[in-house]
Formats: sequence, C-alpha cells, structure tokens
Amino acid sequence: MTSFKVALIVGSLRKESFNRKIAHAITKLEIKNISFGLLNIGNLPLYNEDLEKDVPIEWKNFREELQSFDAVLFVTPEYNRSVPGVLKNALDVASRPYGKNIWDAKPAAIISSTIGGLGAFGANHHLRQSLVFLNMPVLQQPEAYISNAASLFDETGELINKSTQDFLKTFLEKFEAWVERNI
Ligand code: FNR
Repeated sequence: MTSFKVALIVGSLRKESFNRKIAHAITKLEIKNISFGLLNIGNLPLYNEDLEKDVPIEWKNFREELQSFDAVLFVTPEYNRSVPGVLKNALDVASRPYGKNIWDAKPAAIISSTIGGLGAFGANHHLRQSLVFLNMPVLQQPEAYISNAASLFDETGELINKSTQDFLKTFLEKFEAWVERNI
C-alpha cells in the first residue's frame, strides 16, 4: 500500500476545542500508511474576490500547503446546525481563483463532534454539500458523528473513551482504503 499525506482541518479555533482534541487523538493512532499534518485556518482573511488581484500571504501559504497533501480529513463542530464560518471561509479560499480549485479530486472524510446529543449531523451534511461542488470524493461509510464530546477526555485533554478510540481507529482504516482507491 502507498503512503499518504492527509491534511487535518479543524473547524474550531477554540484552544480547548473538543474537535481539536479529537484531531490530536487521531494523530496518535498510528495508522500505518497515513501521515497527518494539521493545517491552520484561523489566520485566513475572509474571502473577498477583489483580493485575488493582490493575494494575501495567508491565502497563498494555505493554498500551497494544501496542494502538498493527498487527502483531507475534516474534524468539525456544528454552529447553528451548519458549518462554522471559519471552515467555510477556508473552503472558499482554496477553491478560487476560478479554475484553480485546490480541493479538486482530493479524497476526504468528515468527523463531526458536539457537546450535544445529535453528533453535529447538520454540520457534517452541510459540509458534504460543499464538498460535492468542490469535487472531493467523500467517504460515505462509516459516518462519524461524535456526541457528548465533553465526557470523552481527561483533564489533560487526552481521549480516554475506549469505544471512541476504537471507532476512530476503524474509521481511519476505512478512510485509508478510501484514499488508496480514490487517489
Ligand atoms: C454551538 N454549539 C452547537 N452544538 C450543536 O450540537 N449544534 C449546534 O447547532 C450548535 N451551535 C452552536 C453555535 C455556536 C456559535 C457555538 C459557539 C456553539 C455547541 C458546540 O457543540 C460546542 O460549543 C462545542 O464545544 C464546539 O466545538 P469545539 O469548539 O469544542 O470543538
């Protein structure tokens, strides 16, 4: 099997973000053929097509960095039943200028997580809608909706819930096979 570089993109900027903690737990799972890189989306100026004339350095760096990855794993909370604005902004930034969509054809997967009980289903599926337009083959099964996130970690931020750990491992092995098939 080939080795892949997977960009981890977290839809929360919060320091103590549970989604960020899940992303960190993922990097420790040691999936054999995947190396993860955490991409920062918190510094990207809001998308404004006028700025394409003199592209902000943060956009340029993000576009170049994303280009170097084979696939993308999104780990996101739900804001008001949808995708947090910061994540939507990152999607927009790397989708333009027209004809230079960097997301194009990169295999992807989505994990959504909430402190509530509905697994951030709304964010997960709104994100899928954008990824269809961006032409990313998105893992269909298993789906990953992680509820009650506040109860899954210890006080140092380590994921201690065994069934969530096992689920993430299975999910990532399926994702690894999905990347291999779609790259
Ligand atoms: C939320 N939260 C939330 N939760 C949910 O399950 N569905 C929702 O629609 C929303 N909406 C929402 C809007 C805004 C503006 C905030 C700040 C929060 C709660 C959310 O699940 C909780 O804050 C998580 O802790 C956010 O994820 P991180 O930052 O811990 O990764």
